[in-house]
Amino acid sequence: MIAVYLANSQARVNAALDGLFQAPSPELTRLYDAMRYSVMNGGKRVRPLLAYAACEALGAAPELANGAACAVELIHAYSLVHDDLPAMDDDDLRRGQPTTHKAFDEACAILAGDGLQSLAFNVLLDPQLTPQDAETRLSMVKALAFAAGPAGMVGGQAIDLGAVGLKLDQTALAFMHRHKTGALIEASIKLGALASGRAEKTELKSLQTYAQAIGLAFQVQDDILDVESDTATLGKRQGADIARDKPTYPSLLGLSAAKSYVLELRDQALHALRPFDASAEPLRELARYIVDRRS
Ligand code: IPE
Ligand code: IPE
Ligand code: MG
Ligand code: MG
Ligand code: MG
Repeated sequence: MIAVYLANSQARVNAALDGLFQAPSPELTRLYDAMRYSVMNGGKRVRPLLAYAACEALGAAPELANGAACAVELIHAYSLVHDDLPAMDDDDLRRGQPTTHKAFDEACAILAGDGLQSLAFNVLLDPQLTPQDAETRLSMVKALAFAAGPAGMVGGQAIDLGAVGLKLDQTALAFMHRHKTGALIEASIKLGALASGRAEKTELKSLQTYAQAIGLAFQVQDDILDVESDTATLGKRQGADIARDKPTYPSLLGLSAAKSYVLELRDQALHALRPFDASAEPLRELARYIVDRRS
């Protein structure tokens, strides 16, 4: 059931994303091609799926969250393009293909990332993809700008790069993960909830608690997979964190404690959804998927 749900939601966001990369003039073809290459390359689409599922948990049709879903994936794709650059993690493989700076060149990858970020905000201002009223759209823009920016993902990436070779304690590691990965996951759920047009304060609070737990679980699982998966399954180089001496949960707690922690975070996330009825089942399934995933 979850497999069908995931496939349907992935197809929905892929169809919406696919229309965003038409170069407005021939001079821009390469840039738009690099943007398309960076997005339409088989990502799991976890953030869009969370946006749709949050919208559904509040009793609204998932299509209402198309703009939210595209926007969070565009920010995510931009963050990956820049994360893989030589000045950052210096990776050659992403989603089973050469990274954008390898397939194009570094300058083009930097600009493609920049372009994807701007496009994310355009999408939230496009009434076709984001049909909500102006006030709701403004709240969505505000939440995404905060999550993507220096007090969110970009801040987390800065901490990550500054921490190479250092031994962070668990509080510092959680702070880094909550920024670099958690912030955008939290925003995905918030944007999806706002898109429903039915979000009450108490429901938003429960969804935020869910999002914080699952956001941290997502990055801890990413750290675990870096240790125990393989490059072909991951579609990115296994062992990259160890090679670069990155502080991670497995390096701090050991692999088995890191795995127990992921399960504990999943249970916290599920607990936060107790006030919701069966319409939150996709969110519950996504919490299980995030900790069970192998790539
Ligand atoms: C990888 O994210 C980077 C992290 C924030 C851990 P995903 O595991 O969601 O990557 P894709 O989008 O499926 O490639
Ligand atoms: C990436 O974290 C987080 C962001 C891109 C914001 P990682 O560096 O661990 O992601 P992977 O492992 O390269 O996908
Ligand atoms: Mg990184
Ligand atoms: Mg990386
Ligand atoms: Mg990683």
